Amino acid sequence: MTAPLGARLDTLKTESTATLKQVKDAAQLEQWRITYLGRQGAVPKLLKEIKHLSLAEKRVIGKRGNTLRQKLEKFYEQKRQKLGPMTTTTSTPSSTSTTTALPPEPITGHLHPLTLAIRRIQQIFSAMGFLIVEGVEIEEARYNFDQLNIPFEHPARAETDTFYLENKGNAKDLVLRTHTSPVQLRAVLENNLTPPFKILSPGRVFRAERTDATHETTFYQFEGLVVKDGASVSDFKGTIETFYEAFFGKRVSARLRPSYFPFVEPGFEVDLSCVFCRQAGCRICKNTGWIEVMGAGMVHPNVLRNMNINPQEHQGYAFGGVVDRLPMLRLGIDDIRLFWSGDIRFLKQFS
Ligand code: PHE
Repeated sequence: MTAPLGARLDTLKTESTATLKQVKDAAQLEQWRITYLGRQGAVPKLLKEIKHLSLAEKRVIGKRGNTLRQKLEKFYEQKRQKLGPMTTTTSTPSSTSTTTALPPEPITGHLHPLTLAIRRIQQIFSAMGFLIVEGVEIEEARYNFDQLNIPFEHPARAETDTFYLENKGNAKDLVLRTHTSPVQLRAVLENNLTPPFKILSPGRVFRAERTDATHETTFYQFEGLVVKDGASVSDFKGTIETFYEAFFGKRVSARLRPSYFPFVEPGFEVDLSCVFCRQAGCRICKNTGWIEVMGAGMVHPNVLRNMNINPQEHQGYAFGGVVDRLPMLRLGIDDIRLFWSGDIRFLKQFS
């Protein structure tokens, strides 16, 4: 036998108010609402039974029942405001709670792999006492060529190799710089630098290339110039090995092969012992154990004179490498054109 309605109302009142006190979040509150006030909830169910009572009882119990429902609705509303809006949806179809959608995740960017490489290069050379100097990308032909001992008839000055902005490369004509060597020349002249000094110039350069996986019209270089007592080929070799060891985090050795650049004498191509296979032979070094990484040489006396330095008194060395090649080697990127492709799927891999 069920207890009389009045007694059950009392129990329900005690129970519902007690459990409401224990509700700690919006989801629990919703569960509470369904249990007591929902369409199939305890209170409406109980109220439905009132119709079976006598008229006198109906009046008394009906009033108490309605008061209880109103009270519980009020408590529910107070609690809901205290807890704030629901942040998750419930699967209950009878849910009347507010659903607040979470805002979409912000898209965070990151630095371009070339920027990261340039910063790393700068950090290493700064720590070795180099001054980092940047220059203009639109350069006068005399700084890009003439004063670097590159004569008018040199093939590098041909229109097929260089983007001229006007005319064809007379001393004052403007070109998109083909290397960052002019930055060092200007840095010395414009600041009246006198030896000893060590300068490193990273920056964007331009060549009228037919592009392929290893050639791009726009790329980055890092070029160094050191003029000091005791500047020698062996000093250069030690310096550049130190740099590459710091960059790749591995022991390496450099190999110099004779080569020609108008602004140095003697000039070399610099090869690095393969950082991938420890010279056992691999795809990257084409099974030779060596990777070609930069051009270098002892600064030509004409270039020293153009910087107001007496070649009888001072010697220097210069070197220049392609920045893009370093992340290509380090990260296994096989096409230089990807850096400028604007393809976000490529860039996203290197945060
Ligand atoms: N300036 C040369 C280039 O752009 C690189 C280089 C610098 C070579 C210094 C030798 C010495 O190709």
